[in-house]
Amino acid sequence: MSAASYVWVHDSLKPASEGVVPFLSAGMQYGFSVFEGIRCYSTENGPAVLRLDEHVQRLLDSAHIIGFRDLPVDFEQIKSAINQTISANEFASCYIRPMIFLDGAMSLTVEAGEPRFMVAVWEWQRFLGAEAKENGIRANISSFTRLHPNIMMTKAKVSGNYVSSILAKTESQRAGFDEAIMLGPDGYVAECTGENLFLVRKNVIYTTPRAGILEGITRETLITLARDWGYTVVEEPISRDQLYIADEVFVCGTAAEVIALREIDFRVIGTGKAGPVTRALQQEFDQLVSGRHARSSKWLSPVSALASVSSKSNR
Ligand SMILES: Cc1ncc(COP(=O)(O)O)c(C=O)c1O
Repeated sequence: MSAASYVWVHDSLKPASEGVVPFLSAGMQYGFSVFEGIRCYSTENGPAVLRLDEHVQRLLDSAHIIGFRDLPVDFEQIKSAINQTISANEFASCYIRPMIFLDGAMSLTVEAGEPRFMVAVWEWQRFLGAEAKENGIRANISSFTRLHPNIMMTKAKVSGNYVSSILAKTESQRAGFDEAIMLGPDGYVAECTGENLFLVRKNVIYTTPRAGILEGITRETLITLARDWGYTVVEEPISRDQLYIADEVFVCGTAAEVIALREIDFRVIGTGKAGPVTRALQQEFDQLVSGRHARSSKWLSPVSALASVSSKSNR
């Protein structure tokens, strides 16, 4: 595994050592920044980015939600910057982290600062360990409640939101679990610290409603793949005890991909390992990201094919 040599800073590639944010910026001081987590996979046709358009659109939506105006980059420029950053680092596969942060603005208004754009990439190892995919992981219901949209915006990937995730995951891991399941303010399951949640019961797949969660792109991908296969997927509130009696529970996200929860709150779920629906979706997902699925050509963007668009900012 090698470290990245280059990072995108505002409008151009720079040596990785220049990928720093100013100490006195609202991004750093108050977590006022929005970001994406995207994956580039190795395929027979070279590196390809999974659902790039959807991730770039969510980044722009996040910026819009938290009130940024006059961004220094547009949709095509963000895509181009991501492409150039991957190419420059010559990674066959990597994790991609674009971010728009508020520089300055110590007086607590968006207008008092300047939005800045950066992209980092790094080589990726399995998020929850190689064994997790086969055997599943252990989770508990967090003592921390997930965000309410009138407190923090759940549709935006805002850096500050992740204090809540870090609190929950740290607590769960210190208690001996792998991941935390967070209930929303209504008491129903919201999501995990960086993943959306599904359960399977009597061959029907259920997942939580969208209102209180980050609308995961992996979640939407799996819903589509499952419906392609003929599964019924229902979005409705899920209670804690519905998890306990599910045949299967799995979580998904860009980092985690598809991982079974084999135990929740010391109760074994189903057979205590990844069940048949989870496994089928894992396999479909693996095919998709390696370029061997019917939907791969639509959802994977080859890095070499992405156009080079110069940034409108000259900062
Ligand atoms: C809180 C939260 N929920 C869900 C997800 C899953 O989203 P995605 O599948 O787009 O990575 C993430 C990861 O981005 C997340 O941070």
